[in-house]
Amino acid sequence: MSNYAKTGGEKHSAATPTPQNGAAKGDFAKTVLMPGDPLRAQFIAKTYLEGAKLVNNVRYAQGYTGTYKGRSVSVMASGMGMPSMGIHAYELFNFYDVDHIIRIGTAGAINPAVSVRDVVAAVGVSTNSEFAMSQFPVNGHFSAVASYRLLKTADSCAEELGIPLTFGSLYSTDLFYDASGAATEWGKLGHLAVEMEAYGLYVTAQQSGKEALALCTISDHLLTGESLDAETRQNTFTDMMEVALESALRL
Ligand code: HPA
Repeated sequence: MSNYAKTGGEKHSAATPTPQNGAAKGDFAKTVLMPGDPLRAQFIAKTYLEGAKLVNNVRYAQGYTGTYKGRSVSVMASGMGMPSMGIHAYELFNFYDVDHIIRIGTAGAINPAVSVRDVVAAVGVSTNSEFAMSQFPVNGHFSAVASYRLLKTADSCAEELGIPLTFGSLYSTDLFYDASGAATEWGKLGHLAVEMEAYGLYVTAQQSGKEALALCTISDHLLTGESLDAETRQNTFTDMMEVALESALRL
């Protein structure tokens, strides 16, 4: 655990359950897959995990632990936005002894290099949020990066499964309805897609001395106006979930 997480842990009660998580210590596996949507967490638990047990249902942030090919794996909804992701990831890393979180989410493409259905693996994340810089006594800008080990693991699992991954940067925003049009400007600066959670996850993993990776399926394209129909959406999500689950086996 890093210094910031330790001092954070002293300031913040590490008692479990927490106001945001009804699970007891030991209820989560070392690896947690985090979709934003609780129904998707439930779908993964019911479709892929054996003996899945509901360990959290506070605010319907559904969390399940079961086994995948014999390995204990958890899945829990992050909710929308960096505040929600930040709370859950902080507690999982620092109070529940979780070591790895793999976000499996959706993102809107802001760069012609990616298309709907593509799965993006976020090497790094930029943001318009004060999530990091409002809490640490440092000057400058926090570069939020993935765990290289998780990136490498996902890369080799995806290759073995025949699922292409696109590696690059995401833009995490506080604003879904952004009147400024900033997202496409970030696209011109080489970012592939916009979503709302990856930066909060990466910063929390780095401050906690733990590992994180964000995988995002492109569900809509801000440059072309294209979006996925429901059936394609489900199939593409399934590809991404399988990359995440197979990766969990190798951590
Ligand atoms: N903006 C923010 N988050 C998103 C989007 C978007 O266009 N699409 C999917 N997640």
